Amino acid sequence: MFDIDYVRALCSLEGQHAVVTGGSQGIGRAIACSLASFGARVTILGRNPSTLDETLALLDGEGHERVVCDVSDLAAVDAFFSDYQRRHPALDIFVNNAAYSVHATLEEADRADIDGMVDTNLKGAIACLQHAGKIMKRQQRGSIVVLSSVNGLNSHPTQAIYSVTKFALEGVVKALASSLGPYNVRVNSCAPGAIDTPINAEAFSREGFKEEFCKKVSLKRIGSAKEIGDAVCMLAGGAFAYMTGATVVIDGGLMLKQV
Ligand SMILES: NC(=O)c1ccc[n+]([C@@H]2O[C@H](COP(=O)([O-])OP(=O)(O)OC[C@H]3O[C@@H](n4cnc5c(N)ncnc54)[C@H](OP(=O)(O)O)[C@@H]3O)[C@@H](O)[C@H]2O)c1
Repeated sequence: MFDIDYVRALCSLEGQHAVVTGGSQGIGRAIACSLASFGARVTILGRNPSTLDETLALLDGEGHERVVCDVSDLAAVDAFFSDYQRRHPALDIFVNNAAYSVHATLEEADRADIDGMVDTNLKGAIACLQHAGKIMKRQQRGSIVVLSSVNGLNSHPTQAIYSVTKFALEGVVKALASSLGPYNVRVNSCAPGAIDTPINAEAFSREGFKEEFCKKVSLKRIGSAKEIGDAVCMLAGGAFAYMTGATVVIDGGLMLKQV
């Protein structure tokens, strides 16, 4: 018999403390909303105070906060985590989501854009994951989800450096899952396909782009931020307690057409 109380208990994040980087819009906002709706107390990070406030206003329950932090500033990341530990009893869930993309082929990539994407998407992520990993190792529990991309599994020619950072993050996830497994800490990645968020606003506003793109997607549509937010929330929680070092591809079947 279907037992709804069992499902509720399995998915509940009641009393858990979660941190989401890049929580001010798009997928990070949707992840924060989903985590809060399942009972977690969520801290969102980003650079823009007003969009962070907009996310905060959407979160169910109490105890949420926003911290202005540029993850490419490694000293700011260090300061955030030491302050976080002073003010919170635990870090149960960490979602590394902040990233950006500049479209260019490898041969065309601008040096400043290369540095920018590596600093934010990779070095900032590694710094955050080092801190989150150390805290969770000490606690002997925790769950980490890293936002990767289908471009971290199958490189796209005009997203060359972005792809490089996401491929690298896939390696980071596997290394961290190996080292933290014995401490009861799970580390997984989520690789979305094309999702309707501000990161794609320019491309999706181009005449006919969306329609043309959807032809390559098996489900024939673009995904929503909520579809990724809910999935990441489930992946972070107890329903996937025996999964670590894995990549969950949520792309409407886009990869089926690329291989
Ligand atoms: N949308 C897609 O189609 C898609 C597909 C595959 C993977 N992804 C991945 O999913 C994640 C979220 O993407 P999205 O589509 O939601 O992008 P988005 O709408 O552009 O949001 C990116 C978030 O990252 C934050 N951010 C960017 N640089 C930052 C920095 N230096 N320090 C702190 N926060 C920073 C932004 O906040 P501030 O501006 O406030 O700093 C924003 O909240 C990314 O890792 C992306 O690579 C997205």
